[in-house]
Amino acid sequence: MEVFDMREFDGHELVLFGHDAATGLRAIIAIHSTVLGPAAGGCRLWPYATTTEAVADVLRLSRGMSYKNAMAGLPFGGGKAVIIGDAPAVKTPELFAAFGRMVDSLRGRYVTAEDVGTTTADMAHVARVTQYVSGLGRSPGEAGGDPAPKTALGVFLGIKAAVKFRLGRSDLSGLTVAVQGAGGVGYHLCGMLAAAGAQLKVADVLPRAVERVCDEFKATPVAPVHVLESQADVLAPCALGAILNSRSIARLRVPVVAGAANNQLARDADGEALRAADILYAPDYVINAGGIISVSREYYGGTEAQVIEDIQGIPARLTEVFERARRENRTTNEVADQIARERLGRAPVSQRLVA
Ligand code: NAI
Repeated sequence: MEVFDMREFDGHELVLFGHDAATGLRAIIAIHSTVLGPAAGGCRLWPYATTTEAVADVLRLSRGMSYKNAMAGLPFGGGKAVIIGDAPAVKTPELFAAFGRMVDSLRGRYVTAEDVGTTTADMAHVARVTQYVSGLGRSPGEAGGDPAPKTALGVFLGIKAAVKFRLGRSDLSGLTVAVQGAGGVGYHLCGMLAAAGAQLKVADVLPRAVERVCDEFKATPVAPVHVLESQADVLAPCALGAILNSRSIARLRVPVVAGAANNQLARDADGEALRAADILYAPDYVINAGGIISVSREYYGGTEAQVIEDIQGIPARLTEVFERARRENRTTNEVADQIARERLGRAPVSQRLVA
């Protein structure tokens, strides 16, 4: 595996492979950048088929965290961890303690938290052996706890900013929002949208997740295979990554795409297809920063009220990206990447490729 030559490598500062014989831990920690602070990003537990797949994922996610943290103005660099394994089979308190020792060996260059496949309870085992962990339980009024409702709040405010920019409307009353995925983030987002007077079309592969939002928020169910072609004012992807590709973009019937899912564009070039179709795309890592804002306030010590206040900055940052993209006749994802890279002191992507 030629790690240094991988497309995802992008000048990572450090990649650490860890193994613990007693617990069977196989983990990789990637630190993309510590220019703006300790590299922060969650720990994903996933049954990767090959080590190459795990390395590519951790590098891609780690770079994404650099961009997200830089755009959100947080005192964090970008990093990520993956544990290779199948959640129910490998999960033990000892496994997470072994992972915690690996995190601790970096003496604060990397701060971990929960991600896909890991929970607040798992992070409590990590916290037994290292202080470099966030996303733990919290007392009332303190920052922290489950980041999903905070991510949902940022996405809700971001949708309002996108609607204002693209449709010239300052409220969501009577508009239709199609939501793909009614999980941790999607459920809370549906609640906020319904309270703002939006009509909801919701799809989830879990029937009970859809039933809950239909019962509580009068949403209309949509089959998961059809949600991307829903006629609506906004599409809010809150399930999977890479859902925006040349085939799906041709079928979209919305003027705005704004949702929580990470890595929504299958390729950077798909941003151009959205622009050509006059669809405003809210770059995912700008709109979904509410969760990491919460993690940051928790890690450095802050209150729930400060988290909510910080999240109010998301719509302004999005609008700055939208305006610059319109002015410069470029895609919103390109503009966001450029702003993030400037903040990280890195060359624009085109210069990097030439060098
Ligand atoms: P979750 O796992 O709680 O919810 C995802 C939901 O999507 C589940 O209910 C699942 O059944 C559904 N789903 C899966 N495949 C689907 C499909 N093909 N069609 C329709 N529904 C499908 O995850 P969570 O936490 O709500 O996150 C949602 C997205 O937002 C993910 O991409 C995540 O990476 C991203 N995100 C989440 C953050 C957080 O604070 N939880 C922070 C930033 C990004």
